[in-house]
Amino acid sequence: MSSKLWGGRFSVTTDKAVEKFSSSIDFDSALYKEDIKGSIAHSKMLSECGIISREDAKKIEQGLLKIEKRIESGDFLHDDSLEDIHMHIESYLTEEIGDAARKLHTARSRNDQVGLDIRLYLKTVINEVVEGLFYLRKNFYEKALSNIDTILPGYTHMQRAQPVSFAHHMLAYYEMFTRDASRFFDCLKRFDENPLGSAALAGTPHKIDRKRTTELLSFSTYTKNSMDAVSDRDFVIEFLSCASICMMHLSRISEELILWSTSEFSFVTISDGFTTGSSIMPQKKNPDIPELVRGKTGRVYGSLVAILTLMKSLPMAYNRDMQEDKPPLFDGAKTLLSCIDIYNRMLPEIKINKDRMLEATKSGFLNATDMADYLVEKNVAFRLAHEITGKAVALALDKGCELENLSLDDLRTISDVFDDDIYSYLDIEAVVDKRKSLGGTSRENIKNELKSIAELLDEEQKNFNY
Ligand code: ARG
Repeated sequence: MSSKLWGGRFSVTTDKAVEKFSSSIDFDSALYKEDIKGSIAHSKMLSECGIISREDAKKIEQGLLKIEKRIESGDFLHDDSLEDIHMHIESYLTEEIGDAARKLHTARSRNDQVGLDIRLYLKTVINEVVEGLFYLRKNFYEKALSNIDTILPGYTHMQRAQPVSFAHHMLAYYEMFTRDASRFFDCLKRFDENPLGSAALAGTPHKIDRKRTTELLSFSTYTKNSMDAVSDRDFVIEFLSCASICMMHLSRISEELILWSTSEFSFVTISDGFTTGSSIMPQKKNPDIPELVRGKTGRVYGSLVAILTLMKSLPMAYNRDMQEDKPPLFDGAKTLLSCIDIYNRMLPEIKINKDRMLEATKSGFLNATDMADYLVEKNVAFRLAHEITGKAVALALDKGCELENLSLDDLRTISDVFDDDIYSYLDIEAVVDKRKSLGGTSRENIKNELKSIAELLDEEQKNFNY
């Protein structure tokens, strides 16, 4: 005979190895809060609909709150024979309040229960992620604000291309993380639906009120198809894909910080508190934090691929395979949150070596495009201007100097369009400030942009109480 909650039709007890193999309690106990919240709303609704008595609902609620406290104080044993968090809590409840506990599972299945728990869990996680991203965006904003006049080479193909303000570079990351935050919000909007009451897959004959649990659990609406509701994990996939994109952004800035902190670049110095030494080479100071974030990006991509693969051949509706959604989901969420958190701590601790950055703009002909643009202003067609400038670069290379060190006579051997005013076009600060096209790197643009970002961040802080 079986003592399991589902044991009625079984005559032989489950093999211990099977219990161990199929148990999920070691990871899904993370959902205890959501599970208790869902059960309280469910029993309240059942009593309001006259399906269970008010007294039983009261006992159930009090019992569940007691269990929540017990779990939080560490008084919670994992028992593989109870499979998962849902059955653990139900069994604890029976211990606490007796027979009334047996009524809680009326008009419900673990299939809609687990769908509910993950949705509630992800709502909390997304709010934490968006809050973390708010501070991350603020950190990039602040780095930009204090570096409007810091000029460094902008790169394409990892070759010096044109000078840009470091503030512009920082605000590029601000843009990425702002898109990330909006992606997470968008993902949340789509799964903000209550699946409770879908039961195993087909709904329930009991006269339940799904709108009431929707209201009690603060969902904006309820799911419209019970089969979809219990077998949908799109939102887990969407969350992990948002997380993967966000990690990709963190990995890109990590790669830059690693490169910039080499002695070859020395554009930045990461403070001692956020670097580590080598056990053999006493002189070493390693950028482990950005390296680990870059590495953990692969881990989050792995979670996304795991769930995509998990779901790809599942027929309708719930299948036990879906229990495997939780380890990658939890790991992906935790990894993302920890990376955002460590970045928020590390960014203010990064020193920007302004002189080194400026020095790097002084070689490599970063003002060559501006020489061509100068010629265009003097009515030379851009293709021809490009060719003339190419010749000037070749001449400078010959002479071992920069474009601005060529004399007017030198330049006139290439084209007689050149005049004294060319030198003001070649000055690095002028090169930056001329780029006034919308979204360009001119310091005037950046100052305007910083102003609107400051207003936006202020507004967000007020609305969300960060
Ligand atoms: N532990 C299961 C999971 O996470 C809960 C749902 C189980 N449903 C079932 N009929 N066995 O997916």
